[in-house]
Amino acid sequence: MSGNADLRKKAVGEKAVEYVKDGMVLGLGSGSTVYWMLKKLGERVNEGLTIKGVPSSLRTEGWANEFGVPLVTLSEARRLDLAIDGADEVDPDFNLTKGGGGSLLREKLVNNAANRLIIVVDESKLVQRLGAFPLPVEIVPFGWENTAAKIAKLQCLPKLRKKDNEIFVTNNGNYIVDCEFSEITDPVGLHQSLKMILGVVETGLFIDMADLVLVGEEDGVRVLEK
Ligand code: A5P
Repeated sequence: MSGNADLRKKAVGEKAVEYVKDGMVLGLGSGSTVYWMLKKLGERVNEGLTIKGVPSSLRTEGWANEFGVPLVTLSEARRLDLAIDGADEVDPDFNLTKGGGGSLLREKLVNNAANRLIIVVDESKLVQRLGAFPLPVEIVPFGWENTAAKIAKLQCLPKLRKKDNEIFVTNNGNYIVDCEFSEITDPVGLHQSLKMILGVVETGLFIDMADLVLVGEEDGVRVLEK
């Protein structure tokens, strides 16, 4: 990541903390932009802010512990006041592609439990149409080749995600296939078609979930409202 992109992620992550009010139960997203949000949130907690957070990945859980952000599980919290999360792509209707970091399933469960979802991105994530970023789809490892072959019939190229030459395994013990569609013209239809395939656990399409998008730009943070 270039130094500039990192600065924008930091600015936008920190800005999101301004929306956090005392007593809130928060959904804590995943990714490098959320890292900066957590760091700032930890500072506010050390200054006396009382909140609790539900982490959407083991990585986020580790950062929250490092910065002193108190945690609860989703089972304990059930409903959340606000979730703050990153994204890989955001279209003009606030449809999102997520899962670049591999945490899409827990992110969706956490974000879905929140009354409000704020997305934090740098401007490179804004697109007219989703699809340039390969769509992450979480699938069950058992017989994953058959699932991937069925996904390929939807006119894409599913690629099993690997890390350090090993198959990438999600926090839920599943695999991810990154699907190159090049352009996603019907996010709702595609999400539904993928979910109908046996072996697909969840897709990285987050539709009709985001309420506010904060965008880190060269000269500050832009707030996009629906
Ligand atoms: C994690 O699985 C993703 O959904 C992240 O939220 C997304 O990849 C954004 O990450 P960055 O903030 O690191 O760009």
